[in-house]
Amino acid sequence: AAGRGARKDDHVRLAGQQWEPGAAGPAGGRDAEFDELEFVHHALTGVSLERVDLGVELFGRHLAAPFYINGMTGGTERTARLNRELAAAAAQTGTAMACGSMSIALEDPAAARAFTVIREENPTGLVMANLGAGRSPDDARRAVDMLGADALQLHVNAVQETVMPEGAPALSEWLAGIEAIVAASEVPVLVKEVGFGLSPRTLAQLAGIGVEWADVSGRGGTDFLAIENERRPGRDFAYLTGFGQSAPAALLDAAAHRAEFPDLALLASGGVRSPLDVVRSLALGARAVGVAGAFLRAVVSGGAEELGGLIRAWRRQTAELAALLGAQGPDGLLRTDVLVRGRLREYCELRGIDARAYARRGA
Ligand code: FNR
Repeated sequence: AAGRGARKDDHVRLAGQQWEPGAAGPAGGRDAEFDELEFVHHALTGVSLERVDLGVELFGRHLAAPFYINGMTGGTERTARLNRELAAAAAQTGTAMACGSMSIALEDPAAARAFTVIREENPTGLVMANLGAGRSPDDARRAVDMLGADALQLHVNAVQETVMPEGAPALSEWLAGIEAIVAASEVPVLVKEVGFGLSPRTLAQLAGIGVEWADVSGRGGTDFLAIENERRPGRDFAYLTGFGQSAPAALLDAAAHRAEFPDLALLASGGVRSPLDVVRSLALGARAVGVAGAFLRAVVSGGAEELGGLIRAWRRQTAELAALLGAQGPDGLLRTDVLVRGRLREYCELRGIDARAYARRGA
């Protein structure tokens, strides 16, 4: 597992670089489609901050804030320390948290420690296990048991697997594999991308096999194409840059096709940099929002203390934004007027989505 462990450390290091302030990555605001969503300001429709409650229900549990720490890491010494810090921040603030892919721990019991530290730090919080599509129902059960997890994230990462040196994915077997896991799992299963978006067609396929939770995890944040490309000298996949859909595009598209998966709970992630991006995601219909790179940056820089402080600040700021926008809760945000501009508007036009309807929802 030494090679696989090195890969986990590479991911953290390279993703961390992308999120450094001033880097060309998401923190630098490189053509973020989230910024193409603008709220129309109505100066007299605000509500008092005390009346705002952005608490959400996730897997039958109540969370005080509509965002969570998305799946990132585990499997090595370094990533065990990170998971411990992430879990401590999650426990301090009552934030839900996922770990990174646990396949390394299924194969190498010594790697399991890097995941079980999460439960040690956070015995009662909402914790999600994580595996790739293509694993067996028995693997899924072992991963969930190892963490005492409340839910299981299953990532579908076809683009990443195509580029990564270790990858040779059996893509055509994934859907049936997910179906088998969903049928056998004792905890809710959340299917997610890793930064390339889930289309309405994919969401309908998932709903059709019994999946009840999906995170569109779109392009524009942590860029696994660039990360795996860097790790693969000799072959250059840079020509694929920009492949996939952003989270805002995926949410707009999903909303236009809602009738095809009426009971699927939609989560969003990918490129969420701020409380404003959280509120934008909720306004487009996300139930809750996953944050990876922006929280990784905080934990690498200042451990659990810095991340805990950031989470508390984000919580206050999401509530302040909702108050400003006249929303007492997530439903109120669905009635905000949102301008869809630029490339996002063009996406809507080409996909037959009525972007103009978003500009006058409160009418
Ligand atoms: C990830 N992500 C991820 N997702 C997953 O399902 N399993 C995994 O093992 C990992 N590993 C991982 C490592 C690191 C270092 C990062 C930063 C991210 C993907 C993550 O959950 C999310 O989908 C994307 O990173 C997009 O969100 P951000 O980073 O733009 O907020």
